[in-house]
Amino acid sequence: MSPPLTSILHSGYQHPVTRSWQNQGRNLTKSMFMYPLFITDDADAAVELQSMPGQRRWGVNKLEAFLAPLVAKGLSSVILFGVPLKTPKDARGTLADDPTGPVIEAIKLLRRVFPSLYIATDVCLCEYTDHGHCGILHDDGTINNSPSIARLAEVAVNYAKAGAHCVAPSDMMDGRVGAIKQGLVDAGLGGKVTLMAYSAKFSSGLYGPFRDAVDSAPSFGDRRCYQLPPSARGLARRAIVRDVNEGADIIMVKPTLPYLDILSEARDLAPDHPLACYQVSGEFAMIHAGARAGVYELRRMAEETAQSMVRAGATLILSYFTPEFLDWLDEPA
Ligand code: PBG
Ligand code: ZN
Repeated sequence: MSPPLTSILHSGYQHPVTRSWQNQGRNLTKSMFMYPLFITDDADAAVELQSMPGQRRWGVNKLEAFLAPLVAKGLSSVILFGVPLKTPKDARGTLADDPTGPVIEAIKLLRRVFPSLYIATDVCLCEYTDHGHCGILHDDGTINNSPSIARLAEVAVNYAKAGAHCVAPSDMMDGRVGAIKQGLVDAGLGGKVTLMAYSAKFSSGLYGPFRDAVDSAPSFGDRRCYQLPPSARGLARRAIVRDVNEGADIIMVKPTLPYLDILSEARDLAPDHPLACYQVSGEFAMIHAGARAGVYELRRMAEETAQSMVRAGATLILSYFTPEFLDWLDEPA
């Protein structure tokens, strides 16, 4: 028995060319990928990270040689994370915007050496505080929100003054988007620097490899009082709307795979903003682990996950697979 005429779908994707038309006009492109880089304070470091295959902690002196081939292949943007390991940390994260620290030095170097490369900087305090939390604390260990957002705004403005094109607060303090935007305006940089807000950032089990990489695990407690509960669809929606209203230029959802529904909601809540998502360290490690165990082929699964993000509405993907995608997007699968 043949199906009704309008039930025939195969005819629309029986050929590679027709398959390429079934993407709602949203192909993966190289410029969709932003590459996260860990910059440490040992200028000559190139330390492999055990839990993140192929990723390293880089010293400033190694960046040009590492990135030149990637830029030549079409790398268009990076996001920098500072990893100070030599200098003692303090309660307010003084090292975050140390003028001789790894992030500020890397911004200046990359601006000079790769004039076309777009430089984003993660803005948070957890890599720089002695307690490992993302803000400034009260004596009882809870977040002291007002000084936290003042300090985050100061750090963001200092990255922007050093030449960052984009500042991206990942701390999840209340009101930090507005505080940073106001800080940029006051510094005369209001229209010159992009503010990408980690808006719907969930308290996830998938950040483990990153916290090892940047040495930012909290020394006590956890981040559940500021990162969103995984069940909290309503809070995610409110945070997205809030950050749009506080002046964010780009909205982000993080992690990606367990939160594709939120990504899709963000597309509807902020239809006129670029939408970013962060395929985090644990997702990257998980895809590698599955491939190593023979569950699937690495490239196929990396591409399938990236497609899911674009399908859900992402226009920008922060991913540790970025170097691979610069090759894969040149070679038909
Ligand atoms: C810290 C920060 C985290 C990530 C980016 N910025 C981790 C955390 O909140 O503990 C996660 C990135 C990743 O896992 O790849 N503010
Ligand atoms: Zn943090």
